Parts: sequence; C-alpha cells; structure tokens
Amino acid sequence: MTLEGLAGRLRRWLYAAGTRQDRLRDPDAVIAVLDLRPGMVVGDLGPGAGHFTLRLARAVEPDGVVYALDASQSTLDDLRRAADERGIATLRPVTVNRDRLEIPEPVDVLFVSATYHHLPEPSKYFAEARTHLRPGARVAILESRREGLLAGWLAPHASSPRRVLREMTDAGYRLIATHDVVRGYWFGQFELA
Ligand SMILES: C[S@@+](CC[C@H](N)C(=O)[O-])C[C@H]1O[C@@H](n2cnc3c(N)ncnc32)[C@H](O)[C@@H]1O
Repeated sequence: MTLEGLAGRLRRWLYAAGTRQDRLRDPDAVIAVLDLRPGMVVGDLGPGAGHFTLRLARAVEPDGVVYALDASQSTLDDLRRAADERGIATLRPVTVNRDRLEIPEPVDVLFVSATYHHLPEPSKYFAEARTHLRPGARVAILESRREGLLAGWLAPHASSPRRVLREMTDAGYRLIATHDVVRGYWFGQFELA
C-alpha cells in the first residue's frame, strides 16, 4: 500500500465525515445519480438554501414537481424567491412538522440531504413516510459519515451509515444502491421492502 493509501485509511479510522463544501462541490454528480426524468414528482426534505433543490426542479421540467419540504418558513420564502428569480415554475415550497412528513401528493423520489440527522425518530418518520411514496419510489439519503474514533466529537451533523441502514430497514425499506460521489458522505438509495 502507498503512503497516501495508508494516510487515507488512518484518516477514516480516526475521522470520516464530509464538510458542507464537500457536499456542495459537485451538485450535478449528486443529481445525476437520482436519474430524474421530466414529469417526475420529487420531495426534497430539508432543502436549505436550495443548492440541490433548484437543480432537482430543473431536472423534472416542464411538467414535473419538486416539493421543497422544510420546517423553516423563512428558508422556504428565500427558496421561493430564488426559484422565481430563475424562472423556475416546478418548485412548490411546503412547511412540514419536524417529526412527520406531509406532502400534497405521493412522490417518485424523496431526497434527503444533510437532514437525516435532524429527524427526531428516523425509523418512525420513514415508516410513516411510506404512504407518501408512489409505487417503485426511491428514498435517497445523502449524509455525512459519522465514522471513526473522533467522529462522535468532530462530526455532530452526521450519521453512522450502519445506523441509517438499520433504521431504514426497521422502517420497511431495502437498500438498492450506494454511490461514492461525495467525499466523506454516505449516499444510499432505498425502495420499499
Ligand atoms: C443542513 S440543511 C441541508 C440543506 C440541503 N439539503 C443541503 O444538502 O445543502 C438542513 C435543512 O433541514 C431543515 N430541517 C431540519 N430539521 C428538519 C425536519 N425535522 N423536518 C424538515 N426540515 C428540517 C432545516 O431547516 C434546513 O433547511
């Protein structure tokens, strides 16, 4: 093994988590993984500033819909303005409770980026979310990796991939793919089991 490979292994052993910059560096690579088509209905849980959301909204144009599902009204107001400035008509902001998903209609894809760790009881949340999914729908979770000896202290905004897998399995989902496209992040897609 090269010195570089050894250093990478050591780093992951001590601390494996990605930063915000890591996540936002190549948003098109993240969107490409989702394999979206015009006309699809997508939910973006916790859209934040909309770095991914606006691209999702473009990907389903002209007749699809992206529901931006956030607990923060001001976040959604900013996002609405950003969509309007860009002439994006496929975005629908929806204010949601922190512990329960609500979407005006079932979705083909539910995208959850850097938001999983905010959910109070993920297993319960995603078990209840099953009714908001269309047949064949996917739940895509992009989450900073809380792995390594120091990650518990250094990566508060992260989750252990093992825990995500266990909780999603408990909620009634099956992992169908993982994607190594964002440094320090676990990116997995689930369907109903
Ligand atoms: C770290 S930001 C992620 C933003 C974006 N998805 C990204 O990857 O850059 C988390 C977002 O989730 C929202 N949020 C936090 N807890 C939530 C919850 N329980 N339900 C819905 N939205 C939540 C916050 O208001 C914020 O907009």
